[in-house]
Amino acid sequence: MNSVRAPGERGIRSYVLRQGRTTPAQQRALEVLLPRYGIPFAERPLNFAAVFGRSAPVVLEIGSGMGEATVEIAQSHPRQDYLAVEVHGPGVGSLLNRIHALRLENIRVIRHDAMAVLERMIPDGALAGLHLFFPDPWPKKRHHKRRLVQAGFVALLARKLAPGGYVHVATDWSEYAAQIDEVFSASGAFASWPEGGTGRPATKFERRGVGLGHPVRDLRFLRRQE
Ligand SMILES: C[S@@+](CC[C@H](N)C(=O)[O-])C[C@H]1O[C@@H](n2cnc3c(N)ncnc32)[C@H](O)[C@@H]1O
Repeated sequence: MNSVRAPGERGIRSYVLRQGRTTPAQQRALEVLLPRYGIPFAERPLNFAAVFGRSAPVVLEIGSGMGEATVEIAQSHPRQDYLAVEVHGPGVGSLLNRIHALRLENIRVIRHDAMAVLERMIPDGALAGLHLFFPDPWPKKRHHKRRLVQAGFVALLARKLAPGGYVHVATDWSEYAAQIDEVFSASGAFASWPEGGTGRPATKFERRGVGLGHPVRDLRFLRRQE
């Protein structure tokens, strides 16, 4: 049978590391704040209670970008903990500065490929939710295999989410939205959750997409109870 595997399994990356300028403040954050709020990549499952110093629901965000929405969400949900995964250095630096300015204790940052983090560092059945806001759409057909949301990724997510856990994906690329809908529906492990409104703050990439005239879609799914 021909199964579609997740990008990480084939060594394909869903991102391109752009060398964009790192400001002195972002650089300083990477040096001084990453040891404080960051978690180094490791090949073993995290102990969430040890990481956050308490037992609370943990939401994973893949591709936190510059981190404005990440911080706003964490600030307005102080009873939840957030793990932000991002590879882009300036974005990680910017997120760290925002966390520190607000002295938020419910966010930790991992600067690494999210597929590897999900596979290796997240215990099975441990996540209360997953946020994936404006993942790179890879619009050209020959690049579709680089998209994060594929059958293998969805199967891995089904394993990592707690029963009843949620997935919230937002995209400004309608053809990618259709693929996301299709892959989650086909997996059988998720029920779609047709809630109105976006239920999240606007993000930097969203503003960019809207400026280009792209319609934004928020897709939500719930991990079925087994
Ligand atoms: C289009 S940006 C969106 C950023 C932010 N969520 C927003 O809406 O402004 C996508 C981000 O996902 C990150 N990304 C994509 N694939 C990733 C992966 N496999 N692991 C970690 N970060 C990833 C990229 O580096 C980029 O910063």
